Amino acid sequence: MDASPRDELLQLIRDLGAQLAWQREAGLVEVPTQGATPVARAAVAPVVVAAPAVIAQAPAAVTPPVVAPPVVAAPVVAAPVVAAPVVAAPVVAAALPARVTPAVAPAPVVAPVEPAAEGRSAALRVIQGEVRACVACKLAPTRTQTVFARGNPDARICFIGEGPGADEDRTGLPFVGVAGQLLDRIIAAMRLSEEQVYIANIVKCRPPNNRVPDHEEMSACTPFLLRQLEVVKPDVIVALGKTATAFLLDSKGSMTSMRGRWHSWKGVAVMPTWHPSYVLRVRDDPKSTARAEVWTDMKLVLERLGLPVPAARG
Ligand code: URA
Repeated sequence: MDASPRDELLQLIRDLGAQLAWQREAGLVEVPTQGATPVARAAVAPVVVAAPAVIAQAPAAVTPPVVAPPVVAAPVVAAPVVAAPVVAAPVVAAALPARVTPAVAPAPVVAPVEPAAEGRSAALRVIQGEVRACVACKLAPTRTQTVFARGNPDARICFIGEGPGADEDRTGLPFVGVAGQLLDRIIAAMRLSEEQVYIANIVKCRPPNNRVPDHEEMSACTPFLLRQLEVVKPDVIVALGKTATAFLLDSKGSMTSMRGRWHSWKGVAVMPTWHPSYVLRVRDDPKSTARAEVWTDMKLVLERLGLPVPAARG
């Protein structure tokens, strides 16, 4: 006796089920058991699979056999270092009568990164590339390397110094010499980690003999710093010393008159304070109040950020 349409359909379902089971065993396809697997990476191609259980709901005899589209293994894409923004699964062929379920290759586990932070890092990498290639002033031929920044592009607080010294020129990182060690101690006393700050300088190349950068050097270099600050968008900028304070606040005021008070750079709160090199220079002077004043200023910064103010410098 000829098979009835119902028997034919049941046989078709069995065949498709067997094919799917084989593909699953072969690792060609992963079928989520509950809804769609969240798409974590834009680069993973969707795989369209017709689920047999759904085909069984198609009206018997009217629906031509639905053939599962060729199932291809999703390409294994090297995971980007940072997660791409989560994107909605692409719309799949509307003509398919069956429910289609996007399936993706198992995603490597990557620590989630704030999209904003990733955008900032990418923007800063572009600026850093330009800095590396810069030969706009007479500091370029004498540098070992440019010194861009250290810390977290997502930080709420930026410390801005003057320019690299010998240690920074050698390592390519700002504030790694003795002044940098003091700055690190100040940051630690504030109970902040390097993850919570972003540190950069007015100029990115070392001025010979650590002299103050001149007008031409600052004019050539500061557009980079301004772009860095526009990207990081900190809540507070700490201007370390006279060069950073004068540039950011366009002021000729003395450090004594500027420090310890709030100022503004494009709406961002700026706290000028003594440069760590100055604090080190005057540390043996019993009359110097610089060290205590830096701590006073940093307590104002913590208050402004709504962070706990430690009782003592520690
Ligand atoms: N190191 C820096 O990176 N900047 C300074 O201003 C001083 C030392």
